[in-house]
This record gives sequence, structure tokens and C-alpha cells, in this order.
Amino acid sequence: MVKSLTITILAILTGWLCLAIWQTPLDASEDNVTPTSTPEQVEHGRILAGIGNCATCHTASLDKPYAGGLDFPTDFGTLYSANITPDKETGIGDWSREAFIRAMRKGVAADGSYLYPAFPYTHFKNITDEDLDALYAYLMSLEPIAQEPPENELRFPFNLRFLQWGWQLLFFDDEPLQPDPERSAEWNRGAYLAEGLGHCTACHSPRNAFGAEKKDKAYAGALVDNWYAPALDASQPVPVHWDEKSLYAYLRTGQSDYQGTAVGSMGEVVHKGLKVAPDKDIRAMAAYLATLGGQSTVGGEKNEAAKLIEAAHQRVATNRSRGEELYISACAACHFNAPENPRALRAELSLNSAVTADDPSNLLRVTLQGVAANEGTPGIVMPAFATFSDDDIANLAEFLRSRAGRPPWSDVHERLKDLRQLQN
Ligand code: HEC
Ligand code: HEC
Ligand code: HEC
Repeated sequence: MVKSLTITILAILTGWLCLAIWQTPLDASEDNVTPTSTPEQVEHGRILAGIGNCATCHTASLDKPYAGGLDFPTDFGTLYSANITPDKETGIGDWSREAFIRAMRKGVAADGSYLYPAFPYTHFKNITDEDLDALYAYLMSLEPIAQEPPENELRFPFNLRFLQWGWQLLFFDDEPLQPDPERSAEWNRGAYLAEGLGHCTACHSPRNAFGAEKKDKAYAGALVDNWYAPALDASQPVPVHWDEKSLYAYLRTGQSDYQGTAVGSMGEVVHKGLKVAPDKDIRAMAAYLATLGGQSTVGGEKNEAAKLIEAAHQRVATNRSRGEELYISACAACHFNAPENPRALRAELSLNSAVTADDPSNLLRVTLQGVAANEGTPGIVMPAFATFSDDDIANLAEFLRSRAGRPPWSDVHERLKDLRQLQN
């Protein structure tokens, strides 16, 4: 009796679980797929795709834009982005609008299988119907490219897509972001873009052991693809805090006067993605982000920078260290700034996040590989210093840290070893 009751309960539970996990395949229906979009919609979608960085993640070779196949190495193995051109066999050519919207908001593909959160649907859920329609219209207007992305190489059990159901249960809330009535329309627009399409916290927030963003640590900074995406919340490492003006300059041009330069993955966000965004959207994001950090610029950025640079100069010891020698011979010609003129030359290193952050990756990487013409300020380059020995780079890092009034980093040699491997 007890046994058959247990079996019945188990059967009911299993049935319930299957029902909960099961997602209906949304087959192509001709009338849905036939594009009824306007040219305005397509153009609007092109801009949105830029802000969402769709091409960056969905392009493995430049001659096949949006055809997917880019690898995403994770702690659980490697997965590959999908082909999102309108090719009917290998892309999303026979996806209905409904299927597309479900993928963007719920992380479920047209065939009903669960998608991995390396695809930032956890952010795209915030996108409005109107904007999703425009994105759909734009993607469907692209040249179809036949290309099957490589098979994922995920370890068991992470290769089982249906387990993402459990991940979603634990870490995903499909409620879209609500506007804050206390804030201005501009601020809300900025929040909509940053938290939705822009998926800024996908890189700027630390993640837990299951790869989910820590909600209580939003914008607290994280290491992604061996670049450090600095904190933008109140714990931001830059001594002259970000404000609307500096954020606008950074997101529009790739660098701000005192805080940072957009290199590495942020270089792509700025120069490939946000490049197409209208000025008012960049201003809106700056207005939103500026409220995350608690601005400290009392009396103007320039005065504050001047005082900090003066303090940095005073911190330099009377006996020249090896690190200082290297700084003077290799870096100062471009990076030395006098307090009277705090932004005369290139980034002042005692104020730059690459030096002041707790993680040394950005300084070490920039020293090893320099800054390319398509990073930071377009067309301006910094030479690479990969020929320096590890000891020299470590001495230089120690000098720059102490000049900026920060404690030495403990893991420079280890990080250098990893980063040099990336160069090869
Ligand atoms: C951070 C990288 C990243 C960004 C940015 C990104 N995607 Fe993706 N996307 C992926 C990955 C990886 C997959 C594959 C996920 C999987 O296989 O579970 C994917 C899958 C998809 C799918 C499902 C396709 C299928 O055949 O299953 C769609 C649709 C999609 N992306 C659309 C977009 C759009 C539109 C944008 C821009 C607004 C975008 N993606 C931006 C990484 C990204
Ligand atoms: C693909 C990962 C990635 C995404 C997505 C991303 N960032 Fe970044 N971000 C970075 C990295 C890495 C840096 C560090 C660049 C450097 O200093 O070399 C950075 C730097 C920044 C900085 C300068 C911080 C400092 O102190 O130097 C700002 C501001 C910023 N990002 C804003 C944004 C905004 C706004 C978005 C969303 C529209 C965004 N980021 C999306 C990776 C990312
Ligand atoms: C020939 C001039 C030149 C020299 C020499 C030079 N730099 Fe640079 N540096 C640049 C330029 C240009 C940029 C990017 C500025 C921009 O895009 O606005 C830059 C940017 C940087 C950044 C900012 C990166 C970020 O992520 O925000 C760091 C850090 C840096 N340099 C460190 C160094 C160090 C350390 C040395 C000496 C080993 C050095 N630079 C030597 C020109 C130079």
C-alpha cells in the first residue's frame, strides 16, 4: 500500500517536472516569418544590435557577420554562439517573431531547448516589444549565411540543456525592469539601455559558482576573458570618481580625462557597439551610471586631479627604485603630467583604473601588448613592452602602485605568466 502510494507520488512528481521543463517548439509559420517590417524598423534594429553588441559575440570571422561560431570558454567547457542570420537551415531564418521574442526573454530556443546564459537573455528580457520587433526586422534583413557552429564541448552534466531549467529556477527572474518614477526620463532611459540591451553587468558584476551574476554585487567589478572590468559602484577604484561628463566622454570616445581608457573587450563595446548609438542614448547611460558610484568630484574634476597628482609626486622616494627608473625611461615621456596641467599628456597613471584597481590584469596586459589604434582614442597607439622581463614589469607595477598610494599587488608574477601565454 505504502509502496504503491510512493510510486504514484513519484510518477506524479516526474510528470509535473517534465511538464514544467517542457517548452513547446515554436515552428515556423509562414505568415509570421514573412517580413512585414518597415525600413525605419530595420534601421532602428541596426542601432539596437550595436548597443547590444550582437555582432561581437555572433561573429567568428569578419567575412561572416552574425553567422556565429565564436567560442566561449567557461569553467564548464566551451560553447559556441549561434548563427543568427536568416539562413533557414543553420540560422534563424525560419524562426517566427514569437520564437525570437521567447529566446530573448526566456532563454528558450525555437525548438524548445534551453539556451545557456552566456547568451545574455537574463538582460535582454528587459527589452520592450517595440525594440524586439526592430531587432527581429533587422536580423531578418541580413544576408543569410549557411554556417553550422561547432558542437559545444561542455562537460557532463552541463551539456544537458534541460538542466538550465533548474538554473533558471534558482537564478533567473523573467520580470522586466520597471521604470523608477522618482527618477528623470533620461535616467530611466539609461537604466533601460544599461540593464537591458547593453548588458553592462554581464562583465562588470562578479558571478557565483554557477556562473550567475551576484545581484547584491552589481557593478562591483569582475575579471572577464583576462581583462578586468572595474567596479562602477561606490567601490570604484578610481580616485577621481566617474561623473556624467567623464562617463559620457569614455563611452563616446573611448577615454576620459582621468579615469580610464577603453581597451580590450571594453574597446569593442565602445568602438564596435556603442559607436552607432545616438548621442542622447550615450548621455542617458552616463546619467544612470553616474548615480551608481556616489560622485566625489567636489570643486571640479580638474582641481581634484591636480591635488592627487601632486600627492603622487610627493610619494616618490628620494632613492630611485628600479621601477622608477623604468617608468622614467619607458613611460614618462607620454604619461607624466604636472599638477598644474593634469591632462597634458596621456592617461595619468596614478589616477587610471588600470593602476588603482585591486586586480593587476589591465596594467600588465596593456604593458605587454600596448594599446592598438582601434582601442582607446581611435588612431592613437601605445607601444608594447613585452620585451621587458617579468621582474622589470613587476618592479614597474610596484612603483606605479606606491606612487598612486596603493598597496602592492601580491599576484603579479602569476598573472604575468598567464597573460604572456595569451600573447603567444
Ligand atoms: C556575450 C555574448 C552574446 C551577446 C552580446 C549576444 N549573444 Fe546571442 N547568443 C550567444 C551565445 C553564446 C548563444 C548560444 C547559446 C546556446 O547555445 O545555448 C546565443 C544565442 C542566441 C540566440 C538563439 C539562437 C539559436 O539558434 O538558438 C539568439 C536568437 C540570439 N543569440 C540573439 C542575439 C541578439 C539579437 C543579440 C544582440 C541584441 C545577441 N544575441 C547578443 C552570445 C551572445
Ligand atoms: C565584454 C565585457 C564588457 C561589457 C559587456 C561592458 N564592459 Fe565596461 N569594461 C570592460 C573592461 C574589460 C573594462 C576595462 C577596460 C580598461 O580599463 O582597460 C571596462 C571598463 C569600463 C569603464 C571604465 C572603468 C574604469 O574605471 O576604467 C566604464 C565606465 C564601463 N566599462 C562602462 C560600461 C558600460 C556602460 C557598459 C554597458 C553598455 C559596459 N561597460 C559593458 C568590459 C565590459
Ligand atoms: C609613446 C607614448 C606612450 C608610451 C611610451 C607609453 N604609453 Fe601608455 N598609453 C599611451 C596611449 C596613447 C594610451 C591610450 C590613451 C588613449 O587612447 O587615449 C596609453 C594608455 C595606457 C594605460 C591605460 C590603459 C587602461 O586600461 O586604461 C596604461 C595603464 C598605460 N598606458 C601604461 C603605460 C606604461 C606602464 C608605460 C611604460 C612601460 C607606458 N604606458 C608607455 C601612450 C604611451
